[in-house]
Amino acid sequence: MEDSRKILGKVHWQSPSNIAIVKYWGKKGIQIPINPSISFSLLKSYTETEIKYSLKKSSEDISAKFHFEGIKNDAFENKILNYFSQIKSDFQLFNKYHLEIKSKNTFPHSAGIASSASSMSALVLCLLSIEQTERKISEDEFRKRASYYSRLASGSACRSIKDGFSLWGETDAFPSSSNDYAVQLSEIHSNFRELQDAILIVDSKQKKVSSTEGHRLMENHPHKIARITQANAHTAELIAALKTGDFSTFARISEIEAIGLHALMMTSSPSYNLMETNSLNIIEKIKAFRTKSGLDLCFTMDAGPNVHLIYPKLNQEKITRFIEKELLVYCESDKWIADEMGIGPIQLMNTTYE
Ligand code: DP6
Repeated sequence: MEDSRKILGKVHWQSPSNIAIVKYWGKKGIQIPINPSISFSLLKSYTETEIKYSLKKSSEDISAKFHFEGIKNDAFENKILNYFSQIKSDFQLFNKYHLEIKSKNTFPHSAGIASSASSMSALVLCLLSIEQTERKISEDEFRKRASYYSRLASGSACRSIKDGFSLWGETDAFPSSSNDYAVQLSEIHSNFRELQDAILIVDSKQKKVSSTEGHRLMENHPHKIARITQANAHTAELIAALKTGDFSTFARISEIEAIGLHALMMTSSPSYNLMETNSLNIIEKIKAFRTKSGLDLCFTMDAGPNVHLIYPKLNQEKITRFIEKELLVYCESDKWIADEMGIGPIQLMNTTYE
């Protein structure tokens, strides 16, 4: 049934996914990471979210409806309502407005790409824009809050608020770092601008074990202390390498982190495995091609079987040929996404959500 409430306004944001080089794996308290992590935002893999708001009926508690890619989605709606009830005391809008939320991703839902970072950050940016209509805050404060509330929805989402590289989690290597929100790493050597991320889709099925469950299994993990030490060391080394343009350090950390993440899953109790034979086939091909060509390139992986091939734009033609010739045979239906470092979230002012 059509809702007859009068629309008072609408907000519309697009927000990107991000790929971690130093991984967030394990948390404590309320979404506090056990170690710092560093990622960069992507350009093409993003979520677009629009919220139309109208006065709510006074009897209602939190009032919101959620449509994902044109279809009412009760599972996501419940997740969102649950999140809203956690943050409602900080937002006036939940007392006043009914929210009609529509959201869609540029990447297929089933591509095996983590969507919580882009979807949760897009949602939070919309909420903060509605709050802004009554009490304006500075752009810096707006982004900081966006990262803070995105973190409460999904840890990795807090790193999607800025363009380029973001750091989340306290580290002595970066004085303004915080466990509460991500900060931007702005001293980045030109070698790392316009980094490319070829996402090789090995398997697009939904993961067998969620990241949230993986984080929980870190609580009593036998390698927990060693992992925290390693992630802190990697964070300090990577911040330095990003400044000096040291790609080989970047590549070494990226690959140890990716394999280390999967090793932590395999040595959890219970143990589980999200790596596939074709993930390993791709990794071996990437290493062999690097040795043969002498080009700068490396891989990383998320908590799933897909492999991200990271390289500077300079080598784009040669690497695209390599992907097409040697890697696509290991991808599901030849699927891959040619993504790259992105520009961060964008507020869409005069566009209509289709
Ligand atoms: C493997 O952010 O999805 O992608 O905080 O429970 O929502 P929740 O977890 P999530 O974990 C992502 C983990 C990772 C590594 C990373 O992005 O740093």
